[in-house]
Amino acid sequence: MSARGGRRPAAVVAHRGSAAGAPENTLAAVRLALEHGADVVETDVRRTRDGVLVVLHDESLARTTDVREVFPERGPWCVRDLTLEEVRRLDAGSWFGPAFAGERVPTLREWMDAVGDAGMLVEAKQPHLYPGIEHQLAAELRAVPGLHEASAAGRLAVQSFDRDWLHRFHEVAPDVPVALVHPGVPDDELLTADSTWLAALNPALGNITRELVDRMHGLGLATNVWTVNDPRDIQRALDWSVDGVITDHPELARPLVGARR
Ligand code: G3P
Ligand code: CA
Repeated sequence: MSARGGRRPAAVVAHRGSAAGAPENTLAAVRLALEHGADVVETDVRRTRDGVLVVLHDESLARTTDVREVFPERGPWCVRDLTLEEVRRLDAGSWFGPAFAGERVPTLREWMDAVGDAGMLVEAKQPHLYPGIEHQLAAELRAVPGLHEASAAGRLAVQSFDRDWLHRFHEVAPDVPVALVHPGVPDDELLTADSTWLAALNPALGNITRELVDRMHGLGLATNVWTVNDPRDIQRALDWSVDGVITDHPELARPLVGARR
């Protein structure tokens, strides 16, 4: 995932796990991503009411669990309004398919244990909703065995759409590489200024060009493009020498990238 220290083969980054084949951000999706040969697993982190970091994309549990049935009076079912014990009662797999009934919303710690030696790309989702989450996330990541080696080898990074929060996180945990997820085309002046502390800038597929990839590399930044599911788009991104393809289909990206690194 990292450009510093020279180019390596692109990483296959499993978006929310292998999200096309298993319910996103569950341990089943992590296991499938590893079966698919992903180099890195991407996830989204939020916090429960009682302060536990969990792995969930949306602010609300409604789309990816049966929370409406279990707690009909608790709408809009934000994860920050439920305790971990309450979140644990929810089925996070049946919405995707009956074979996944009983999957749970994992804690970040459980997710990290499941990812094991593979790479981790951890996205802090709407961190302003969870005051102080930068300290908590830094503490959780410091529990990763070989944090320094994992960071240096491009096997660990934290990303966010929230630039100011990401900078705060960087100050708290300067040993963890940080990537700015960018919804548009980055302004060159900002890109140049932020290249002093960012490890990577991760743009959406529709916003990258070969010129932008070259510019980021020229500034010493890596770039991981999301969310790339069509093999033709994956190949195009690889032709432009991106550092990682973030995909719901690691099984399609793996043969295009080559052997697992
Ligand atoms: O990794 C980038 C990508 O995950 C950002 O979009 O909404 O899927 O978290 P989203
Ligand atoms: Ca994400």
